[in-house]
Amino acid sequence: MTQFPAAASENTIQSRGRVSDILEQTGLRDDFMAVEREMLDRISSRSNVLHDAGVYTVRAGGKRLRVLLVLLAARLGTYDFHRAVHPAVAIELLHAASLIHDDLVDHAASRRGRATIHHTWDRNVALALGDFLFGLAARELADEPDPRIIGFYVHAAQRMVEGELHPVTQIAPFDQACAQYFRKISAKTAVLFEAACKSGIAVCGGAADRIDAMGVFGHELGMAFQIVDDILDMTEAAVVLGKPAGNDLREGTITLPLLHAANRNPDPRLLAVVNGPVEADQVTSLIELIQTAGGIEASYVTARECIARALAAIQPYADPLTFQALRNVTAIVIQRRS
Ligand code: IPE
Ligand code: IPE
Ligand code: MG
Ligand code: MG
Repeated sequence: MTQFPAAASENTIQSRGRVSDILEQTGLRDDFMAVEREMLDRISSRSNVLHDAGVYTVRAGGKRLRVLLVLLAARLGTYDFHRAVHPAVAIELLHAASLIHDDLVDHAASRRGRATIHHTWDRNVALALGDFLFGLAARELADEPDPRIIGFYVHAAQRMVEGELHPVTQIAPFDQACAQYFRKISAKTAVLFEAACKSGIAVCGGAADRIDAMGVFGHELGMAFQIVDDILDMTEAAVVLGKPAGNDLREGTITLPLLHAANRNPDPRLLAVVNGPVEADQVTSLIELIQTAGGIEASYVTARECIARALAAIQPYADPLTFQALRNVTAIVIQRRS
């Protein structure tokens, strides 16, 4: 059985268990664990506080889905761990950096079942550690001779930073509000999944049409991933998520379940979220309203549509075992609870 770092919650263990199954079926377990060791190895710093906070971040774990995607994508070329390890480490470090900064922006007190960096240390440490990890991730790719890989990385990093600040300013009309929402989640989440998939196959010599297909797969999977994340923010408890629940509405962040709900039932309480943060004592009743209006169900339908497009893109290219493994990843994304 794969040994993961400290567990955040039972449901995270469940996702990890399913990741373990995929690693077992594909023979990738040792390489996956080697990426984990490489990450810990990379975060040493002359600054004690950066070192401690970096170890704290990596040891807190996470599902490591982006690492898994790099390795699975590499199987669609001529699999070579010595090449795939660099984008795998880089993408996961970039992800960790973005979470540390995201938690500052979102005023979140917990992540992966532990106190966030800015709560455990302070804002300055969180800013510095995020920057440090962004830098380490770029450094990781200096060992990779194919210039396309740093290109995928830079594109993702640039879009993610922009995406965090793309506002969704409308709840109606539905189509315009959805366009804003999809633009935002594409930039802040889907581009990194896309980069993981493209760099995994590219470093292992995949042909251009396969790289493009994996890019579509990763992007659509990332869209579904963020839609489900936005659903879980409304449906799961903090103890399950390992991070705050109901935080999006509390922060006044407009997400797809709210858009679908308001489209079905333009109740003034739903439309009022456009004015900004919701009082903490109003969040539960607002979520009930969103659920009753069918916002959760409709969002799952949208997420499943993304998954269907993701799988259609790679069907002509993937060997049966890798295709099944990637299909299993899509199932984790839809069925996850944390
Ligand atoms: C959280 O990503 C940030 C989003 C894009 C929603 P994950 O849910 O993959 O975070 P970890 O790495 O498993 O903690
Ligand atoms: C995703 O958005 C954050 C990043 C892509 C960095 P969220 O704000 O929804 O992520 P969580 O819920 O804090 O993990
Ligand atoms: Mg957040
Ligand atoms: Mg979220």
